[in-house]
Amino acid sequence: MAISIILLFLPLIFFSSFSSSTIDRLSGASSLSVEHADDVLTSPDGVFSAGFFPVGDNAYCFAIWFSEPYSEGNRTIVWMANRDDPVNGRKSELSLRKSGNVIITDAGRLTVWSTDTVSASSVFLYLHENGNLILQNSEGGVLWQSFDSPTDTLLPQQLLTKDMQLVSSRSQGNYSSGFYKLYFDNDNVLRLLYGGPEITVYWPDPELMSWEASRSTFNSSRIAFLDSLGYFSSSDNFTFMSADYGERVQRILKLDFDGNIRLYSRKYRMDKWTVSWQAMSQPCRIHGTCGPNSICSYVPHFGRKCSCLPGFKIRDRTDWSLGCVQEFNLTCTRNETGFLKMSNVEFFGYDYGFFPNYTFGMCENLCLQICDCKGFQFKFIKHAHPSNIPYCYPKTQLLNGHHSPNFQGDIYLKVQNTLPIQEIGLDCSSTVVKQLNRTYTKHQENASLKFVVRFAMVVGSVELGVIFIVWCFFIRTHRNSSAEMIIDPKLEGKYDKGRMEILFEVALKCVAEDRDARPTMSQVVEMLLHQENDTELV
Ligand SMILES: *[C@@H]1O[C@H](CO)[C@@H](O)[C@H](O)[C@H]1NC(C)=O
Ligand SMILES: *[C@@H]1O[C@H](CO)[C@@H](O)[C@H](O)[C@H]1NC(C)=O
Ligand SMILES: *[C@@H]1O[C@H](CO)[C@@H](O)[C@H](O)[C@H]1NC(C)=O
Ligand SMILES: *[C@@H]1O[C@H](CO)[C@@H](O)[C@H](O)[C@H]1NC(C)=O
Ligand SMILES: *[C@@H]1O[C@H](CO)[C@@H](O)[C@H](O)[C@H]1NC(C)=O
Ligand SMILES: *[C@@H]1O[C@H](CO)[C@@H](O)[C@H](O)[C@H]1NC(C)=O
Ligand SMILES: *[C@@H]1O[C@H](CO)[C@@H](O)[C@H](O)[C@H]1NC(C)=O
Ligand SMILES: *[C@@H]1O[C@H](CO)[C@@H](O)[C@H](O)[C@H]1NC(C)=O
Repeated sequence: MAISIILLFLPLIFFSSFSSSTIDRLSGASSLSVEHADDVLTSPDGVFSAGFFPVGDNAYCFAIWFSEPYSEGNRTIVWMANRDDPVNGRKSELSLRKSGNVIITDAGRLTVWSTDTVSASSVFLYLHENGNLILQNSEGGVLWQSFDSPTDTLLPQQLLTKDMQLVSSRSQGNYSSGFYKLYFDNDNVLRLLYGGPEITVYWPDPELMSWEASRSTFNSSRIAFLDSLGYFSSSDNFTFMSADYGERVQRILKLDFDGNIRLYSRKYRMDKWTVSWQAMSQPCRIHGTCGPNSICSYVPHFGRKCSCLPGFKIRDRTDWSLGCVQEFNLTCTRNETGFLKMSNVEFFGYDYGFFPNYTFGMCENLCLQICDCKGFQFKFIKHAHPSNIPYCYPKTQLLNGHHSPNFQGDIYLKVQNTLPIQEIGLDCSSTVVKQLNRTYTKHQENASLKFVVRFAMVVGSVELGVIFIVWCFFIRTHRNSSAEMIIDPKLEGKYDKGRMEILFEVALKCVAEDRDARPTMSQVVEMLLHQENDTELV
């Protein structure tokens, strides 16, 4: 009897748990529970949905996403209420109160988020066709809307105004607030900044004046806006047009976790987003990528790569944003300090000062006098006035480093010359940070390509290991006649220049932008032996 009753109700249980009834508005005193997969608000055309989304183990955020594709792993999130305060998977809910307030409670207790609204008349919450979640009263007044508090994404028709900002997420799979912001600055210019230990702006190019970057500081309305055809305009005169301008496609403007801002578009219901515009074409110019004491270089087809500076080692192999730490402590004794030149390398910000028309010697002396000086940037600036004179920038920290053949300037690192040279390693563990040219959805991984890449990386590290051993051997057998790594100011040019150049070349090829440009094992041995023979003959 009992069994037959169960059998009778089984289809009912089955269907009730799998059919999805769409909710188009919340009114009265009502709520959406984290425990019910069906508790999702849907826009009238079905394009957008709002509900609880899993962001980690038993951690949920109330979010708005594109309803298609349905699978959780592929969902395109466009807004989040409590990105930095995820709630428990049991008893958490979003509730509309009779008072007119909307709150999110964690496990039935703590309020982690609220709209802070009150209303004498009745209110209702609904999702507009443009993706805007709106709290409205019965007179039609808007009490609150999600468009006023964007997270990392701007939808067409959504305004970015003076008190708003887009904040990137922490990483690919972590939706918490990250380090990058798009906002209107005090001078009315729309900018991208990196909020690391020190706040630095990297877009528009900080070396240009606003007017040189075609930005206007005069219009104080501070409004930016993307239209549905793919045209973006900002009150500081910055505009762009998407590559597929005019096509009726879905679009999102997103500040990605890597600090680049990209416009994505896709055909309706197709799940692949393609990049139709991006702010930074040179990804290493985005600040904060590789953390302190490391250099970012761009490897075509791979993406950005981080390398530790000579004398430094990586802090955490899984997180390059933490950068590298010094393998030994620098003393402040003048006669024990020298400089190592790295060409076409720039470190942005953290200047002790700005010293125009300083000769190399003056700049070097300045850095030696300052204990905290980690090195100095020495370059000629085209646009500066007066032009064609050298500019000296002693650095208190080595951050936002990047290597580019296009960069006309060198960095001189302060190094200790009394320590055995073997201690100065060059950590070339090249981790590809991320792809620039990716579509938003995950690529199907190509197994054979993956194998080739892994194989190449293994061969590469073995190669580098051998280079290092040979290098150490070479240096050991020619200790301090070959102070190649370190230019001691006291030597005053009384060193073997040719030999130094060769070793520099070998060292710097390790951080070469292009993998193919790096020497093979046999080439290195040849270079070193050749050099040795030459000097023996002299
Ligand atoms: C996301 O990153 C933040 C900051 O590092 C961390 O506190 C949080 O636990 C991470 N969340 C997940 C789900 O990994
Ligand atoms: C994402 O969508 C693609 C294509 O529909 C599918 O093959 C893939 O399994 C999905 N990924 C996840 C994580 O659901
Ligand atoms: C900004 O654009 C407007 C209209 O196109 C133009 O009149 C104005 O001169 C521009 N301002 C600057 C500073 O370029
Ligand atoms: C300022 O920018 C707004 C928005 O782009 C525009 O409508 C307005 O005409 C601009 N004002 C001036 C004086 O250019
Ligand atoms: C450098 O100095 C700090 C503090 O003085 C010390 O904690 C650290 O161990 C030193 N590092 C090395 C490599 O000697
Ligand atoms: C540097 O100078 C100090 C005293 O001025 C001296 O004690 C030390 O030995 C010198 N070091 C070297 C490497 O010459
Ligand atoms: C730069 O300094 C030199 C002397 O060191 C001086 O002759 C020259 O006029 C200076 N140039 C500028 C542009 O200040
Ligand atoms: C990015 O991808 C597009 C199309 O897939 C390709 O034409 C373009 O060359 C790529 N750009 C880079 C920098 O790899």
